[in-house]
Amino acid sequence: MAFDLVFFGGTGDLTWRKLMPALFQAWRHGTLPLGGRILAVARDERDDAGYRAWLKERLAEADSAKRPSDDEFEQFSRAIHYLRMDLSQPADYARLTAWLAERHADTVVMYLATSPHLFPQICEQLGAAGLNHDRVRVVLEKPLGHDLASAQEINRVVRSVFSERQALRIDHYLGKPAVQNLMALRFGNVLFEPLWRRERVANIQITLAESLGVGTRGDFYNRTGALRDMIQNHALQLLTMMAMEPPSSADADAIRDEKLKVLRSLKPFDAVSVARDVVRGQYRAGNVMGQTVRGYQEEEKVPPHSHTETFVAIKCEVQNWRWAGVPFYLRTGKRLAQRHSEIVVNFHPTPHPIFPGSHAPNRLVIKLQPEDGLELHLLAARGTERSVFNHEGLEALSPVSLDLDFDKAFPTERVGAYERMLLDAIAGRLNLFVRSDEQEQAWRWVEPVLQSWKHDPSGVKSYTAGTWGPPAASALVARDGFAWAEEA
Ligand code: BG6
Repeated sequence: MAFDLVFFGGTGDLTWRKLMPALFQAWRHGTLPLGGRILAVARDERDDAGYRAWLKERLAEADSAKRPSDDEFEQFSRAIHYLRMDLSQPADYARLTAWLAERHADTVVMYLATSPHLFPQICEQLGAAGLNHDRVRVVLEKPLGHDLASAQEINRVVRSVFSERQALRIDHYLGKPAVQNLMALRFGNVLFEPLWRRERVANIQITLAESLGVGTRGDFYNRTGALRDMIQNHALQLLTMMAMEPPSSADADAIRDEKLKVLRSLKPFDAVSVARDVVRGQYRAGNVMGQTVRGYQEEEKVPPHSHTETFVAIKCEVQNWRWAGVPFYLRTGKRLAQRHSEIVVNFHPTPHPIFPGSHAPNRLVIKLQPEDGLELHLLAARGTERSVFNHEGLEALSPVSLDLDFDKAFPTERVGAYERMLLDAIAGRLNLFVRSDEQEQAWRWVEPVLQSWKHDPSGVKSYTAGTWGPPAASALVARDGFAWAEEA
């Protein structure tokens, strides 16, 4: 299939850190359709050879297993071209049109890897240049807006130029193999569905913990904060996949309709519940995995008295028959104890205990990062400890777990998130992209939190880098008689 893939923001971090390496992996794996052209668009004056040389240096920074050899880069980069564009200039879009018209591509993907404030302008200009015909798709990177109004405005402009099926909003978490496995676990197996409800589940915890700080992105991050950066998109997408009803098919809209229903069922916040159910934190200097690190306010491009949150914990509720009364706790943060992302389903205890001793209830852990797997925590009799039999002869139980490590189960290299999303964008598979109504509904839900914080910027609690966040996050869960998985 002849495709043209245009990266706006062709010299930006996202392009060289994530997108080009992902394309290279697809090329190496032989999954990138043949006959494609890749066009990087940016402001600087360069030619194809100059861009390729620049990119080669960037890709050399990758892990050794992912780094192209000279020969591989030479072959891969033949498809890569460069076009200098000033994104505000119609004449430059005419040059883009001319470049694209050099041959007939079956599909043209415009990937907007720029700052989102440029999205409306780029879409309008693409429309004015006639580059919104039905062979064109546009991919929009997060963050899409910084609140509900700005997201609606971006979507209004995007919709005025492209149909919903042409506009692909990316959330790279949906491309992760572990997230694919969440769908497989729920809808490819019968075992868990009868348990996946309020009668059996005591609470669900979604943790997206990072050990890294804000790095060189202090400027962006300080305007954004953890709620917009991780909760509004990644964490809520995971929540919808945990809570959704089984879709009638794998059709993109069948899935997205179900996810939207979950977002609409989330209990809305008001000022009282924000104060009660949302904890925000900011890291101060500490030690992360043996390394001394500075505090957020000392990071590059972060103002010294910033109130931006680098940690959020939220208790939320999905108000429907399946989930009423079951707390969903979401938590994310930078500079936490380790890079560790997982979803934990804590089941109710047995209704009537017959074994001696007290036992932790069953727990299912869906591990997302750094390793990708499943753990099912059960109770079993060891058959060795005679002294702990009760008078009926029953032994005190011991915790055991069934562990599934997907890297061991499927030893061939797995497809990375961006690799998968790019191939889907080229092929026009929409399942893993977020629809505008889902995305706006997610903004609608976080909006009262943003508003409350705007009126009270000082409520951010500090936590030491290398811990699991402020103590208030533990208290949020303890109040309901539960504990975060690492404290249980
Ligand atoms: C991005 C956020 O969307 O996700 C980053 O902007 C964050 O701040 C990143 O570090 C985390 O992604 P991953 O795939 O490393 O968990």
